[in-house]
Amino acid sequence: MDGRVALITGGEGSVGAATARALVREGARVLLAGLSATGLAAVDRELGASRSAWVVTDVTDASQVRRAVQHCLAAFGRLDVVFANAGVTGVIAPVADYPEQEWDRVLAVHVRGAFLTCKYAVPVLSDGGSVIINSSVVGLTADPGICAYATAKHAQVGLMRTLAKEVAPRAIRVNTLHPGPIDNAFQHGIEVAATGLPPDRAAAAFDAMIPLRRHATPGEIAAAVLFLAGPESTFITGATIPVDGGMSV
Ligand SMILES: NC(=O)c1ccc[n+]([C@@H]2O[C@H](COP(=O)([O-])OP(=O)(O)OC[C@H]3O[C@@H](n4cnc5c(N)ncnc54)[C@H](O)[C@@H]3O)[C@@H](O)[C@H]2O)c1
Repeated sequence: MDGRVALITGGEGSVGAATARALVREGARVLLAGLSATGLAAVDRELGASRSAWVVTDVTDASQVRRAVQHCLAAFGRLDVVFANAGVTGVIAPVADYPEQEWDRVLAVHVRGAFLTCKYAVPVLSDGGSVIINSSVVGLTADPGICAYATAKHAQVGLMRTLAKEVAPRAIRVNTLHPGPIDNAFQHGIEVAATGLPPDRAAAAFDAMIPLRRHATPGEIAAAVLFLAGPESTFITGATIPVDGGMSV
């Protein structure tokens, strides 16, 4: 990844930070975009001088996304990889009880957010670049109570497939990643809300649904992003890539 530059939304989060570490380890520089200035600054500090930059960005706001892309070009002079990763869980409730505002919020972050990230990044993305949208195992399957999240994650696949065909003439590849449960706060919150169990028992209940019988580490998701970003995957585009311990089988 030497000389390559990546834009990561949700860059201060668990998967975003793990991916930034993996890309920087391989020689890339990264622009971290996310909601928390404190969180972004902490990841930026950890990555070391001149390897990263950050800008507070709400991915649902077009002007802020445009500014993040401009910030990336100003800091590093180019853009080769986009990781559209920002996400929120939403509440757990059946469709009939699902709060409408919450539906709008969840779809705004995942669908509008990934759309705006692609819309403003693609025109300046290097030919031969790579776009990875972080969907979920529930972008391929679904479970009761998560209608907004599962719908949003499925919708990202439609965006990915459309964009993959649009930018293929520039040798830009576009794929979605479909992680299963990851051992982090985001997932543990969903598990407790979905099962009503304490965190360790809720996690064990999820482990039992995963053929590999465990959660992923954030680093395992980052490794898949690195693969899709780099030169080992140059004939993979328009693909839905599960990284889910077999959960979607
Ligand atoms: N944790 C899991 O088990 C799991 C599984 C499958 C998919 N995912 C997906 O992985 C992605 C990253 O999640 P994570 O597990 O690292 O959780 P996380 O909460 O650590 O990270 C989410 C990030 O998104 C950012 N974000 C939220 N709303 C935003 C907005 N409007 N604008 C910009 N940034 C915003 C947050 O600031 C945070 O940095 C999400 O899209 C999530 O849906 C997570």
